[in-house]
Amino acid sequence: MDILLVDHPLVAARLSIMRDERTNNSSFRAALADLGTMLIYEASRDLRVEQFPLTTPVAATTGTRLADPPIIVPVVRAGLGMIDPALKMIPDAQVGFIGLARNEVTHEPVPYLEALPDDLSGRTVFVVDPMLATGGSLLHAVRILADRGATDITAVCMVSAQPGVDALAHSGLPVRLVTATIDPELNEDAYIVPGLGDAGDRLYGPRNIDL
Ligand code: PRP
Ligand code: URA
Repeated sequence: MDILLVDHPLVAARLSIMRDERTNNSSFRAALADLGTMLIYEASRDLRVEQFPLTTPVAATTGTRLADPPIIVPVVRAGLGMIDPALKMIPDAQVGFIGLARNEVTHEPVPYLEALPDDLSGRTVFVVDPMLATGGSLLHAVRILADRGATDITAVCMVSAQPGVDALAHSGLPVRLVTATIDPELNEDAYIVPGLGDAGDRLYGPRNIDL
C-alpha cells in the first residue's frame, strides 16, 4: 500500500495541540481543521488537472483546474470535522457520508448511516477520518466504497496506529493512506498510544448512541 507520511513542522505543531490533554474542544476543532487542510493539500498532489483558456487583466494565458474533483467521504462522527477543510481546498468536491461507531466492548464498527452515490466507478474518493486504530472502521468504509465500484480511494487520517495500517495494507483493497503520524500501538481498550484520546468526543463531546 502506498503511504504518504506528511512530515512538516506545521503538521507536527497542530498534531501536538490535538494530542495535548489540556486542549479544549474549541481549540481541538481549530487544530483539526488546520491539520485537515494540510493533509488534504498533500493528498491532492496527484489529482488530474486540465487546462483552459483565460485572460488576465494583462494578457491571454492558460489556466489550470481539477479535471475530476474527488468525492469527500467523512466517517461520521469524527470525520465531520474534516469536511470544511476539504471543501475549503476543493470547493467543487461532492460529499458522501458513512456513519460508524465502534462498539466499546468488541471494538467492531457498527454502521448507522450510508449516504453515497450508487456508482463510484471512475471516481476519485477521499475517505476522511482523523483516527485509524484497529482499522476496523476504515476497512468497513473502504469496502463500502469498493463495493460501489471505487478503485481510486485515498484514506486521509491524522493519527494512524501501526496495527490499523497493517490491516489496511493486508486487506488487498484499492486504497492508499495519507497520514500525519503512525503511532506504534493500541492499549487494551484499542485506543491509540500515545494518540489523542477519542477524537469524536474531543470534537463534539461524549456520544449518546447505544450500541
Ligand atoms: C473513531 C474514529 C474512527 C474509529 C477508529 O470513531 O473516528 O472512525 O474510531 O477506530 P478503529 O480503527 O479501531 O475502527 P468512533 O467509533 O469512536 O466514533 P465517533 O467518531 O462517533 O466518536
Ligand atoms: N478512536 C479514537 O477516536 N481514538 C482512538 O485512539 C481509537 C479509536
